[in-house]
Amino acid sequence: MDNAAAVPGNPPQANHHFADAARDAVYQAIFSRRDVRGQFLPDPIPDAVLARLLTAAHFAPSVGYMQPWSFVLIREAAVKARIHAAFAEANAEALQMFEGEKREIYRELKLEGILESPVNLLITCDRDRAGPVVIGRTHIKAMDIYSAVCAVQNLWLAARAEGLGVGWVSIFHQAALKEILGLPERIVPIAYLCLGQVSHFHDKPELEAAGWRPRLPLDELVYFEQWGETAGDGAAALKAALRAAQDTAAAHRRFDLAQS
Ligand SMILES: Cc1cc2nc3c(=O)[nH]c(=O)nc-3n(C[C@H](O)[C@H](O)[C@H](O)COP(=O)(O)O)c2cc1C
Repeated sequence: MDNAAAVPGNPPQANHHFADAARDAVYQAIFSRRDVRGQFLPDPIPDAVLARLLTAAHFAPSVGYMQPWSFVLIREAAVKARIHAAFAEANAEALQMFEGEKREIYRELKLEGILESPVNLLITCDRDRAGPVVIGRTHIKAMDIYSAVCAVQNLWLAARAEGLGVGWVSIFHQAALKEILGLPERIVPIAYLCLGQVSHFHDKPELEAAGWRPRLPLDELVYFEQWGETAGDGAAALKAALRAAQDTAAAHRRFDLAQS
């Protein structure tokens, strides 16, 4: 990846920035992370690696420092089979919710790697972890859920750095997940993840490659001072920079290409 600090108008933030290679590695993980469904290898994940991933998740930010997450590891074939059956039931329902060409594309999509990946992981949110009144969560109760999602993303990026794929499977009835894995009432299933080594990472999101949706132009998603306001002080300059940064991200989404 380009040395970001060498780009004019992109000065390093005094003393607090990572060394160039470390900073580039962070962006590399972000740009080359993929949702993995079909490329899992059966090799086990060493405990030391799994421990690093779970620790990355545990160091996520959380409202009021609630740390509302827990982690249910699923490695036994019998449990995975029950989860897969729950997915298949929900997925058949989902197929019927799309029409025409979308339904045909949907039918061909692989949307999980439950059986092939060596480790499945449910990240949960305990809505009562820190008692009834939580600093920062006094007015917007869903902040605990958002916190748990931050843990998911930490793990996802750490896994990419470790060369491991992660796929998020969300096509379930929540009640089915809770029943199969024995979750108490107050525990919300946040992310059912499939983890493992992969044969390769795709260079684009699979839904983008399948023509489902393109990546949206970032410069059209940024407003100034008010929702919908696209002009403002410095708007044109920032939008040009956003387009350039999005192009750079796209060019570096594959680690192996970026290295060559
Ligand atoms: C909350 C959430 C739920 C998702 N659920 C599924 C899913 O059920 N099945 C699937 O194949 N991908 C799922 N994905 C992955 C998205 O399809 C994927 O992130 C998106 O297409 C962009 O691709 P990328 O992650 O490779 O960049 C989910 C992602 C998120 C963030």
